Amino acid sequence: MTEHFRVCGGARLVGDVDVVGAKNSVLKLMAAALLAEGTTTLTNCPEILDVPLMADVLRGLGCRVTIDGDRTVIDTPAELSHRADFASVGKLRASVCVLGPLVGRCKRAVVALPGGDAIGSRPLDMHQSGLRMLGARSEIEHGCVVAEADNLRGAQIWLDFPSMGATENILMAAVLAEGTTVIDNAAREPEIVDLCTMLAQMGAKIEGSGTSTLTVHGVTSLQPTQHRVIGDRIVGATWAFAAAMTRGEVTVHGVDPHHIELVLDKLRTAGADTTSTLDSFTVTMADRPRAVDFVTLPYPGFATDLQPMAIALSAVADGTSMITENVFEARFRFVDEMIRLGADARTDGHHAVVRGVDRLSSAPVWASDIRAGAGLVLAGLCADGVSEVWDVEHIDRGYPRFVENLRVLGADVARVAAEPHR
Ligand code: UD1
Repeated sequence: MTEHFRVCGGARLVGDVDVVGAKNSVLKLMAAALLAEGTTTLTNCPEILDVPLMADVLRGLGCRVTIDGDRTVIDTPAELSHRADFASVGKLRASVCVLGPLVGRCKRAVVALPGGDAIGSRPLDMHQSGLRMLGARSEIEHGCVVAEADNLRGAQIWLDFPSMGATENILMAAVLAEGTTVIDNAAREPEIVDLCTMLAQMGAKIEGSGTSTLTVHGVTSLQPTQHRVIGDRIVGATWAFAAAMTRGEVTVHGVDPHHIELVLDKLRTAGADTTSTLDSFTVTMADRPRAVDFVTLPYPGFATDLQPMAIALSAVADGTSMITENVFEARFRFVDEMIRLGADARTDGHHAVVRGVDRLSSAPVWASDIRAGAGLVLAGLCADGVSEVWDVEHIDRGYPRFVENLRVLGADVARVAAEPHR
């Protein structure tokens, strides 16, 4: 037996939904706790599977971790193990973010490579070359990324691409390096800003947070801290798309609307009305959405994680949309599942062309990753009849209480245990 979501199409989503801390922030903040001996407390943590998986990675390195609802407490010992082997990291791609803190704190790290991902190749070359610039040796050996340094020294580092993961690992090594490090073409995502904020609270000296040039003046040690994780802008934006697609009215609490300014602008172009406060926003859509083009780019561009929602919206919009993917090449696998639901879509290299149809038609479909799964549920809400979305463990990794929230908003969605079709 395995679980799927049974999604009945037709409901208009109306009401309020609370969004908790960002998956793409909390996992890095947990890794940052390795940098300081003592007790670090994180609040507003999402109750998703990746948090206990990351806790296991930290336990494997010698930490004591307790998770109590939205609160995660990490006790980091004076002596850490520097090896994160496959048994602990294999289930969690983001576990590679322990690399930088381990090199910073222990001057050596052996971190197993979690392997490929359904959204495309995820190499670590920029992580490694950044650490080399700081004076570490780094190789891939026996399925692990190995990094060692006698001493880390500040350096000027230019990233080929503003990679979130490379920025985080280099930053977390540089905070304990000798001298000044400048990371140019750094990622500017709100989750990177959240990490910089927590590191600063721990005593790190960082300038340029939220810009593409991060300057880090190394310090000899950091102190543990308490920190509240920022709201998940990707989850918040998913609800914004859900409101627009179902011609509903949804107020999302717990997300800074500035973090999804571009999304709200796109939805307004599609015909939605939006209003915002400091930490909430409302999306109202009266009519069928109009077709809009989307281009994924690093922040502040349109997030690649929202590309499935953009395709799902385009599939039911009035007109033809072009969606261009610039970050993860394999994300268009999602289009094949959308075609099962009756979408008129085709891909050509980095582009997908989607001609909106009046109504999608229900079908069994399979989630290939977290965001594709959410996109399929949204599409199912706009389909005639009852769709089944399978492989929902992906959705559970990124969307806490997804089914419960959908039901509060009026959707007819249920989690069902059954024999899989394939
Ligand atoms: C993070 C997010 C993911 C999001 C992505 C892009 C987490 C846990 N995941 O992933 O949800 O979709 O940012 O916003 O935070 N690259 C290289 N070499 C490297 C590193 C990256 O070529 O050394 C390439 C990747 O293949 C990809 C691009 O850079 O094409 C962006 O990747 P990156 O920003 O590093 O993504 P992640 O940090 O893995």
